[in-house]
Amino acid sequence: MAEKRLQPPAHIGVIMDGNGRWAKKHFQPRSMGHRAGAQNFRTITRYASQIGVKVLTVYAFSTENWSRPTEEVGALMGLFKDYLREALRDFMDENIRVRFIGDVSAFSPDLRELIAEVEEASAPKTGMVLNLAMNYGGRAEIVRAARTFAEEVQAGRRSPGDLDEALFDRYLYTAGQPAPDLIIRPSGEQRVSNFLLWQCAYAEFVYFDILWPDFKTEDLDRAIAIYHSRQRRFGGV
Ligand code: FPP
Repeated sequence: MAEKRLQPPAHIGVIMDGNGRWAKKHFQPRSMGHRAGAQNFRTITRYASQIGVKVLTVYAFSTENWSRPTEEVGALMGLFKDYLREALRDFMDENIRVRFIGDVSAFSPDLRELIAEVEEASAPKTGMVLNLAMNYGGRAEIVRAARTFAEEVQAGRRSPGDLDEALFDRYLYTAGQPAPDLIIRPSGEQRVSNFLLWQCAYAEFVYFDILWPDFKTEDLDRAIAIYHSRQRRFGGV
């Protein structure tokens, strides 16, 4: 008899880590690790949509990643362009809506154009929401939210007393989405690295000693099984 599939949590976050080490292990340049990582990003995104995940957030480029060698940043930008175009086709077939979280204004005009195109073309899609975190940092997101709220107070549209956690949430990139239930970090590192800082307050973290390009659909199933084995108490008993 076929095994009953566990219901996936509504929102899963993934820190796609380990591309560089994967490349090293295969005696290849780091850019090839990112290429393999981008290919895997497509596979895992489609699978997440097929098993019924409602929101998938993947960390593709952090506000700190600009400090990498120019050549590596350039290779990543090239990959974003190639893969966003290709992924768009796949994702449209899967009814996936793509949103970008992060300060995309820092990217080149052609990448920004592509980002806008992908967001617009996928806006009517009603299936899984894919949040692509690009030039994203959790702290920067919180500062941006605070600044926007302060501007609204200054303009007389809000008063400081209006602010509570629910309202603050509406100023984040992820406004209106459920908070992540499960955050997966492959590659063996056990850090949050500025990912979804506000939103991860009650997320379950699962770390795997697998490099991102080697992370398989079975590993996503395994992370979901681990998630189900945890007892979430949200600060209660
Ligand atoms: C971290 O691995 C990975 C990144 C900084 C880039 C992640 C980007 C992709 C997987 C491409 C995604 C493509 C699209 C279109 C969204 P690392 O380089 O820090 O690995 P290391 O720690 O082993 O050096």
